Amino acid sequence: MQHKDDLIRQAFDAEHFRRNGHELIDLLANFLHSATSGELPHALPWQEPQDQYRYWEEGLEKGGDTTPQALFAEVLESSIRIHHPRYMGHQVSPSAPLAALAGLADGFLNNGMGVYEMGAAGTAIERVVVKAVAKKMGFGQEADGVMTSGGSLANLTALLAARSARSPSPAWQEGQKERLAVLVSEEAHYCVDRAVRIMGWGEGGIIKVPADETYRMRTELLPEYLERARRDGRHVIAVVGSACTTSTGSFDRLDVIADFCRGHGLWFHVDGAHGGALAFSPPHRHLLAGIERADSVVMDFHKMLLTPVVATALIFRDGSQAFRTFSQRAQYLWNQESDEEWFNLAKRTFECTKLMMGLKAYTLLRIYGPELWEQYLGRVMEHGRRFAALVRETEGFELAAEPQCNIVCFRYKADGMPEEAANVLNGAIRRAIVEEGRFYIVKTDLRGRVFLRVTLSNPFTAPGDMQALLARIQDIRKTL
Ligand SMILES: Cc1ncc(COP(=O)(O)O)c(C=O)c1O
Repeated sequence: MQHKDDLIRQAFDAEHFRRNGHELIDLLANFLHSATSGELPHALPWQEPQDQYRYWEEGLEKGGDTTPQALFAEVLESSIRIHHPRYMGHQVSPSAPLAALAGLADGFLNNGMGVYEMGAAGTAIERVVVKAVAKKMGFGQEADGVMTSGGSLANLTALLAARSARSPSPAWQEGQKERLAVLVSEEAHYCVDRAVRIMGWGEGGIIKVPADETYRMRTELLPEYLERARRDGRHVIAVVGSACTTSTGSFDRLDVIADFCRGHGLWFHVDGAHGGALAFSPPHRHLLAGIERADSVVMDFHKMLLTPVVATALIFRDGSQAFRTFSQRAQYLWNQESDEEWFNLAKRTFECTKLMMGLKAYTLLRIYGPELWEQYLGRVMEHGRRFAALVRETEGFELAAEPQCNIVCFRYKADGMPEEAANVLNGAIRRAIVEEGRFYIVKTDLRGRVFLRVTLSNPFTAPGDMQALLARIQDIRKTL
């Protein structure tokens, strides 16, 4: 911007917007091409955090000597490339370009969404999306829910509903009286632990059931753990099943947990932030057997369904349960605390103002149909199988467990190498890979052993990329 006078007019000038928008889309389209084709050498242009900070701070200090296009190009230059076939790190899928455009429309419209008037289309779209997911999960017409900013918040919201439904006294109105607890796999995502502590149940409120050698909850231990919790004076209200776990992508036996919950009057919650998406993939639906009997389910769109972060569905088998969580009077928003108005979303979420969260998923569903997700899920699930086969075939490598989805944990460990040395080596390998930036992978600690970890969520990752990763690791470990 050259002239400092009348900046408001400039900032809202429709022709500036048109020109900047066209330039931005050109920039992103070129980036998309070079990222997905692997022309870009780096999946991660690594810089130390302090250098990164100084760079952007200096940019601001220099002032307005740049153009929007140059600024956006700088951002691309310094950001991790989720669309790159050698991005194999955390569980974020590359955003489908059309879903990203929906995000742009959302940002521009800036509808607040808390009450119906502040997001009429967005509110209805969100419900259509939630209902579509509910149907795929195997729920009936009475299922309903909301969308939230991420799986962590959705899991907390689900557990608040569980407390409201199963706690002997009304904690929302009177404060927490009983010593409540949930049973959960030791491999569950840390946000479940955090949710329990936020609710004030303390460390003893989260009872971790051991996992087996494939990192699935040992469901045969549930009766013993429930009994022990009761003896310790804990009132267990729910069991949380993971579909799947974060570290190893392992699916708990949801059907067994459903039986257990029914037998003991417990709330059954499924954290399907990652793997819940497989409800859209008929060949893999069996991994979720029993999910249709859950009281509540969480599923992220941004992990396995190609939408930009963040968009999460929280679904209740009995939709009316959602209204019990936050019963509260906000005079300026609505008059009746008790009315179950599906169209005033803030009645059921922690958030007041939020994104038009369903729009990105709805756009993909409406334009491509669920077949896009089905094809994508088929592709990335096959990636997991193929990468595991390569690990098995390549000397010096081993799997942590047979992968159940597109998350694979593996490590380099030569014959006879002591565990401690293998831990140090794999930690150093991961650090070298990140700093080099040609691949992006992460690591995890499994029962004291360090494993490298990939989430193969890029449909353009080819077997050659997987082989190249293992070859690069071989080269790196020789230098360490
Ligand atoms: C199983 C599971 N639950 C919850 C979460 C948290 O979801 P979000 O990052 O959307 O808050 C994750 C994220 O990795 C996860 O893997």
